[in-house]
Amino acid sequence: MTDTTTRPATDTVAAESMVDVRGLDVAFGSTTVLRGVDLRLDRGRTVGVVGESGSGKSTLAKVLVGTVKPAAGSATVDGVDLASAGRSALHTYRRRVQMIPQDPYSSLSPRRTVAQTLAEAIDPIRPKVTRHEERIAGWLGRVGLQPDMMHRYPHEFSGGQRQRIAIARGLVIDPNLVIADEITSALDVSVQAQILDLLADIKESLGLTMMFISHNLAVVQRVSDDVVVLYQGEVVESGPVEQIYADPQHWYTRRLLDADPGSPRFSLAG
Ligand SMILES: Nc1ncnc2c1ncn2[C@@H]1O[C@H](COP(=O)(O)OP(=O)(O)OP(=O)(O)O)[C@@H](O)[C@H]1O
Ligand SMILES: [Mg+2]
Repeated sequence: MTDTTTRPATDTVAAESMVDVRGLDVAFGSTTVLRGVDLRLDRGRTVGVVGESGSGKSTLAKVLVGTVKPAAGSATVDGVDLASAGRSALHTYRRRVQMIPQDPYSSLSPRRTVAQTLAEAIDPIRPKVTRHEERIAGWLGRVGLQPDMMHRYPHEFSGGQRQRIAIARGLVIDPNLVIADEITSALDVSVQAQILDLLADIKESLGLTMMFISHNLAVVQRVSDDVVVLYQGEVVESGPVEQIYADPQHWYTRRLLDADPGSPRFSLAG
């Protein structure tokens, strides 16, 4: 599969798009944190969101999972208008949109085995391991762990392995949208690369729809089809990842590229 998919005509937007954010403002008290954000994510594609600390990346993620309300503009995800959705609509919605968290240490319960954690993700009301053992084993294999590790506790794994478990937990219920917020920033560089490769593989094989957030443009590039650059709460540049790399238009995007010694800009261009 290549990235050269044909763009749908605008009248098919509703069917194709998983995320459609328009003119989104978010404020905390008197501070506006996101301003006029437009973002479109089609099914089966991955958008990378990049920007420095405080630029509003996680706030955008929180709008999409329904925990932060827009102050203005609209955010429609998987057919749900998040500005107007009520409590019960959001309740079922939240299972369709999964966030993979940054810190694999604090996000896994130390008292639960991997199997118990995944069983709980599958069925929060009756998390029975024996009932879901095959599915759990399958997912551990898919994220590069031995299926028989399911009976171990988080402390028996390395940071990278825990992040694999967190990925399995996020994906085991087959969500419609996956949001990965800085999932490699707590890991060593070599382990980061392994996790990115894994995510890129899974994304290809399952056709995931994903928002991938990082402050590092090179990291975002590894798994994204399109990139959105956030600067102080505003989108300053967006487009296909190759285009952003080959021909960045905004000074801030150029700065992000230049600041990164591992930038694959040159290898992509050449
Ligand atoms: N609940 C909140 N109340 C008040 N201000 C907040 C709240 N959440 C975030 N902010 C502010 O909003 C801005 C954007 O924060 P956000 O967490 O979205 O940034 P980020 O791009 O994810 O940063 P990082 O790379 O450090 O994770 C920051 O100035 C932050 O202090
Ligand atoms: Mg953040």
